[in-house]
Amino acid sequence: MSTPSEFKTLPAHGLARDELFARMESFRREDIDWRSGRAWAYVFDPGEEAREVIKRAYMMYLTENGLDPTAFPSLLTMEREVVSISAAHLRAGPEVVGNFTSGGTESIILATKAARDFARATRGVERGAIVLPTTAHAAFHKAAHYLGLDTVLVDVDPDSFRAVPAALEAAALELGERCVMVVASAVSYAHCVVDPVPEIAAICERHGWWLHVDGCMGGFLLPYFRRLGREHPDFDFSVPGVSSMSMDLHKYAFAAKGASVVLYRDKSLRRHQIFSCANWTGYTISNATVQSSKSGGPVAAAWAVLHHFGDAGYMKIAEALLAATDRVRTWVEAQPDLQALGRSDMSHVAFASDSIDLFALVDAMNQRGWYVQAQLSYGNSPANVHLCLNPESLRWLDDLLADFETCIEQVRETKPGPLLAMIEGALGQVDLEAIDDQTLRQMLEMAGAGGGEIGGDRADVSRVLDRLPASLRARILTEFMNESYRRA
Ligand SMILES: Cc1ncc(COP(=O)(O)O)c(C=O)c1O
Repeated sequence: MSTPSEFKTLPAHGLARDELFARMESFRREDIDWRSGRAWAYVFDPGEEAREVIKRAYMMYLTENGLDPTAFPSLLTMEREVVSISAAHLRAGPEVVGNFTSGGTESIILATKAARDFARATRGVERGAIVLPTTAHAAFHKAAHYLGLDTVLVDVDPDSFRAVPAALEAAALELGERCVMVVASAVSYAHCVVDPVPEIAAICERHGWWLHVDGCMGGFLLPYFRRLGREHPDFDFSVPGVSSMSMDLHKYAFAAKGASVVLYRDKSLRRHQIFSCANWTGYTISNATVQSSKSGGPVAAAWAVLHHFGDAGYMKIAEALLAATDRVRTWVEAQPDLQALGRSDMSHVAFASDSIDLFALVDAMNQRGWYVQAQLSYGNSPANVHLCLNPESLRWLDDLLADFETCIEQVRETKPGPLLAMIEGALGQVDLEAIDDQTLRQMLEMAGAGGGEIGGDRADVSRVLDRLPASLRARILTEFMNESYRRA
């Protein structure tokens, strides 16, 4: 058994402030350098001025507790206003209600819980299932996993990457009473397209199915793109048959992380989201969200950024993002080695290649100080490079595209290393379902990703993951995380 001294413990006395912050600065050295504006994922940075407003608002409410809205009515006021602004943005009628949550995943978990419990209360469904296009965010799988629901996955159209209404209908019909929710995205993360929500909603209305539209990524920005002339299917509460929606404010509304809303067509649906408990000796609990105690910072910062920019401020940002998206698309379409995926209804661009190794391309770019993301192949979607455009990154567009061109030439002759061949050889001989955790850890070691660190060639790790079936990928990632979050 280990002694406490092997692990990091509390310092005997508090550190001097300078030392404390110096240490924290040193922790940052390996982080993505988003401040330079060279990250094309994870960060939605509206620039210095807005950042100051967000920070000040967040700090004003850092210590207030959102646990009990009657104790801090100012938090309730801001939440009501943020939810109201969000509902109006999504063309909601007067009956639409909602809550502020910590992020897209929490919004999705809550909507899924509400749909599950609605089906239980109204139809007695014991074990429900949700119908998902393969492009629906992984958060729905997580929600199903946490809530004891099954998932039914439905392929999307191989050219447009939009969900296919008739295929969703067929899958839901097969489930019958067990279908507690059908999902559509606006936009999907991977291909940045809006699903044909009006057609899907009409089907759901006809059969009485709950339709959730995931606007986590697109809900806030898409209305601006539409006003600027970019067409996409209607996706919001103006469409009859949409039961609930999620929309993140910490993405393209630029709020501090920990900011999303979940909205319902009316209170009779939202009721099933709320959890109350009087069965213990302490204070009675009634929580609309998963979190109970929570900082007032995120809702205050969200309120502040919405009022800082206002409609005109967001429109200006949208104009710049739309022009930049078109520019990247035009560039991709001019590259003989690259194929754009989907239509970019909004401000992400994904491209595949049938002539160069994209994992090597991503590594080469990241070695030049960029952060660009590789997406693995799944279903009818090939492996691709994904760019999420961010206002503070647009000044780098020329350099980004020039570096892509240089790196494409650099990796043209790159062939996968021996690791992939070895894994491919081994795959033919083992029963993938029977692989135990020990063997998985050995596979991670071989791929240079043992002990929860990626020490080896990242491209090789991606190539190996890309070659594995999804269930095995997920197990490997779980093993990696389990090693990674170890004691210091
Ligand atoms: C379409 C979509 N839905 C849900 C989520 C999950 O959001 P979060 O990371 O805030 O939990 C994301 C995140 O990128 C997303 O793009």
